Amino acid sequence: MRYFIITLGILILGVVLIAGRRGDLSRNRPMQIFPDMKRQAKLRPQTANGFFPNGFSSQLPPEGTIAQEQPLTVGGRAVYSFEDAPVNTGRQTGSTNFIALNPFPITGGFLARGEREFNIYCAPCHGRTGEGTGITKKIGAMAVVANLHDKRIVEFTDGEIFHVISQGKGVMQGYASQIAVPDRWAITGYLRALQLSRLGSVDDLAPELRAKLQ
Ligand code: HEC
Repeated sequence: MRYFIITLGILILGVVLIAGRRGDLSRNRPMQIFPDMKRQAKLRPQTANGFFPNGFSSQLPPEGTIAQEQPLTVGGRAVYSFEDAPVNTGRQTGSTNFIALNPFPITGGFLARGEREFNIYCAPCHGRTGEGTGITKKIGAMAVVANLHDKRIVEFTDGEIFHVISQGKGVMQGYASQIAVPDRWAITGYLRALQLSRLGSVDDLAPELRAKLQ
């Protein structure tokens, strides 16, 4: 009996020692047996410090420093890549709704750039005309590639297409890390032109072109 009580006592003590103070807050620093580099001599920002001649811990960047990135100019405003802006996300700021229209002006040069990028990045699967009959489909590497002339995809807004290019969809990977933001919008513009080429009528042509056709 005596041994039983002693064993029980040791057991209770063990449980209390191991689990007894879990969840308690302590103002003491935890004991660090291997502190590694958790504590080190460093300058805190915006404080006085004698290390630099001017006595500030924070220093201006050296002269000639080049900014890590240039902002995009969209609608006369500078937009940085970290901003929650329609040009970066394809969505209205602070919402999940896709924007209707391409934020860049659609010019001939812009579409030519879109064509070049589309033929590099999209044509291997979707084909140069967007029908989903690229080389990966032909050799059987991809079973089902979306036909970009499907009514459902034609009805996408520009923002939604940009979103698919950036984030991918199903087995299609996202291209945000490979294609720069303006190029993704150029592809979006070019894809719209491809879709329109199937849907347009003779009446959409300029008069002189229409005359040539007839
Ligand atoms: C490696 C092959 C591949 C490449 C490259 C590729 N796609 Fe796709 N894409 C697919 C496949 C497969 C689907 C169908 C995905 C699904 O529904 O699971 C698809 C779907 C889509 C859709 C429809 C998404 C939806 O909601 O149904 C769009 C739009 C699209 N791709 C645009 C593009 C554009 C633009 C590019 C070039 C930047 C591109 N894709 C490059 C394979 C590819």
